[in-house]
Amino acid sequence: MVCRVFATFIWNCSCLLLLTTVIDANQGDVECLRTFKSQVEDPNGFLWSWDFTNQTSQGFICKFTGVTCWHDHENRVLSINLYNYGLRGVFPLAVKNCSDLVGLDLAKNNFSGPLPPNLVSMIPLVTSLDLSYNSFSGEIPASVSNVTFMNSLMLQHNQFTGQIPPDLAKLARLKTFSVANNLLEGPIPTFKRSLKIGVESFANNSDLCGKPLDDCKVTSFTHARVKIIIISALCGFTVAVFVIGIVLGFTVSIERLLFRKGR
Ligand SMILES: *[C@@H]1O[C@H](CO)[C@@H](O)[C@H](O)[C@H]1NC(C)=O
Ligand SMILES: *[C@@H]1O[C@H](CO)[C@@H](O)[C@H](O)[C@H]1NC(C)=O
Ligand SMILES: *[C@@H]1O[C@H](CO)[C@@H](O)[C@H](O)[C@H]1NC(C)=O
Ligand SMILES: *[C@@H]1O[C@H](CO)[C@@H](O)[C@H](O)[C@H]1NC(C)=O
Ligand SMILES: *[C@@H]1O[C@H](CO)[C@@H](O)[C@H](O)[C@H]1NC(C)=O
Repeated sequence: MVCRVFATFIWNCSCLLLLTTVIDANQGDVECLRTFKSQVEDPNGFLWSWDFTNQTSQGFICKFTGVTCWHDHENRVLSINLYNYGLRGVFPLAVKNCSDLVGLDLAKNNFSGPLPPNLVSMIPLVTSLDLSYNSFSGEIPASVSNVTFMNSLMLQHNQFTGQIPPDLAKLARLKTFSVANNLLEGPIPTFKRSLKIGVESFANNSDLCGKPLDDCKVTSFTHARVKIIIISALCGFTVAVFVIGIVLGFTVSIERLLFRKGR
């Protein structure tokens, strides 16, 4: 009897504990979206459905436009897809609180400014990140190479500068990748051979080189040119000295001849 009471007590406790953690976890995602909304400018009011005044039902955030949940009746965000919403502002750091987020699509908006350097801690589980057609600038954070499950990384049509982080080649699951139409320069990471990323993924940048573009031979090219110039100069000089020598020798000989004749 005592045992049963105790068991029931334990059972209830663990249930309560479980429920509390579920609610806590979900509250994080609600907080995530609430902060997200406050962090972006929404000039067209497209996020009007993101209404937090009535939080009575579990899964109320799953009805928000652009939000997909793991389960419709659980406030746990799977992905945020806000393609072409006319949003502005910097990269919304709030996504960090959507702790089970696997997809983030902010393509074709007016986001600007640099990405956070610790991007991996913001979106550690994301498999698909699409930030294309915005005005993001600065360097592509090296920490994106640590977003281990990344499948698709779309960064085209922004204003990213500097080099592509070489460690991106370590993203074992990467299948789709583009940085076309940015201001990038330097060597392209040596991706594994089975991964076929075409020329168009790197097109229209400042000065990228290496496969699938031309080899990074810019400096050795210049070296070769300098060598050619030096060799030509040396050759020219030698020929000149030779010619002058001959002319001088010839003149001296003639002078001698004339001198002898004159005597
Ligand atoms: C809150 O939502 C519940 C369920 O969707 C609904 O029954 C209730 O009327 C809403 N309350 C307000 C104040 O909107
Ligand atoms: C981005 O902003 C510019 C002006 O700042 C505006 O002309 C353009 O329509 C905006 N783009 C989108 C997709 O809202
Ligand atoms: C995450 O949510 C907590 C409150 O729940 C808040 O204090 C914190 O600033 C949030 N983090 C981000 C990056 O928005
Ligand atoms: C990526 O992760 C590795 C191993 O945890 C760590 O050594 C490295 O500093 C990380 N790089 C970045 C740029 O965060
Ligand atoms: C590169 O820029 C040109 C001219 O703006 C454009 O026609 C072409 O589609 C761009 N290439 C890619 C891969 O975006």
